[in-house]
Amino acid sequence: MAKTKNIYICDSCGAQHFKWQGQCSDCGEWNALSESKFARSRSSQSVLSVTQKATPTSLDSLDITRVERSSSGFLELDRVLGGGLVPGSVVLIGGDPGIGKSTLLLSVIACVSQSKQSCYVTGEESLDQIALRAKRLNVEKAQVQLHSETCVENVVETLRKISPQVLVIDSIQTLYSEQLSSAPGSVAQLRECAAQLVRFAKDFNVATILVGHVTKEGVLAGPRVLEHMVDTVLYFESDLGSRFRILRSAKNRFGAANELGFFVMGEDGFKEVTSPSAIFLSRKTDAVSGSATLVTRESSRSLLVEVQALVDTNLGAAPRRLAHGLDAQRLALLLAVLHRHSKIDFSSNDVFANVVGGLRVVETAEDLAVCLAVVSSYSEKPISTNVVVFGEIGLTGEVRPVPFGEERLAEAQKHGFNKAIIPMANVPKGKIGIEVCGVEKLSEALEALTRN
Ligand code: TYD
Ligand code: MG
Repeated sequence: MAKTKNIYICDSCGAQHFKWQGQCSDCGEWNALSESKFARSRSSQSVLSVTQKATPTSLDSLDITRVERSSSGFLELDRVLGGGLVPGSVVLIGGDPGIGKSTLLLSVIACVSQSKQSCYVTGEESLDQIALRAKRLNVEKAQVQLHSETCVENVVETLRKISPQVLVIDSIQTLYSEQLSSAPGSVAQLRECAAQLVRFAKDFNVATILVGHVTKEGVLAGPRVLEHMVDTVLYFESDLGSRFRILRSAKNRFGAANELGFFVMGEDGFKEVTSPSAIFLSRKTDAVSGSATLVTRESSRSLLVEVQALVDTNLGAAPRRLAHGLDAQRLALLLAVLHRHSKIDFSSNDVFANVVGGLRVVETAEDLAVCLAVVSSYSEKPISTNVVVFGEIGLTGEVRPVPFGEERLAEAQKHGFNKAIIPMANVPKGKIGIEVCGVEKLSEALEALTRN
């Protein structure tokens, strides 16, 4: 019989301790240790320890041309993955329940199965449910091996027999390992199951996609170690009630991080959105106050988004600053800059800011657009619908340049905008087909607006 021993695993960071303690000494989290029985058996050692001795290889002798990426059937997904699925890579894809992870991956595996041996392991749904979904997606004839199983040892054993080239596991939280006594989905189980699957993927060169649940804060459930173990971490996100879905790469060993892919959910599954600026921009014919068009940059692509602001009279005690799709702290900072350098006082106002379409803008190029939208709402003066804005704002009220200025202007021009208010240092040297108004200070940008 396998020898068992008790260990205590931190639910927050996954660190293992031999004794119970109130606070995890690794991450400092209180009350996070849970007891787990760990059976040391032959197979668990083969997964967790290095079994083969590796010898050093010279870098120039490696032949990277043989790494062949295969298309997932969706160009948008391929782009987020850095050019397609890589054999032997492990991708973790997280998202809220019902966002469409299973739908997307069933479409992907059905498409890939035309040229590769493919397997879809489900621990969440019955095979009938998957067949129904496949019918809805019009892929019921695809040559995919479906496997309904939750014990990871059995999964790996079956996979060895099928020897797939592409594998989907839906989801990692439903799997459990016989070697641990803790419940499926617990930190120890997640680590162990992921470790076994990662080892399988590397040993047999299988392109593996793991589905992961997210917590209510929107991060992948389970320890951060899960994210360290895999090659790529993708998040599937959407605005509440919207048909549009955004796939974002948070980590990618085979491509750029923060790359975005856009999809729209229809009656028969996902379609990709090739011109995403159209989603985020509601081109109104009449200008309304509190709205500015920003050209943002997401890794390799420029995107036009509408930034909205609402400045309202504050009736309660403390004025509120709420931001959706952008950082609330940044909003507070920009309001302070507007107060100090443009003498606009928001102390008796609530200020709300929003990026339309459920996108999260994380770059500082949004600063100028946020400020102009806020001032537009405050003064009830609309910004012309033909104007785009981008630029970072410093604490001294200066407008600082941002990367990819020319690419952003080109995107604006492509969508028919004819004026841009941008940092002076981003003004292109040559003449371009859009009127460019370079500004060095926030006050100049506000003046440029009133000239519209
Ligand atoms: P699902 O893929 O089950 O989500 P997840 O695996 O992330 O939990 O998606 C289910 C939702 O998608 C459900 O609300 C129905 C909707 N849906 C469509 O709108 N069109 C479709 O073609 C399919 C298959 C699902
Ligand atoms: Mg699902």
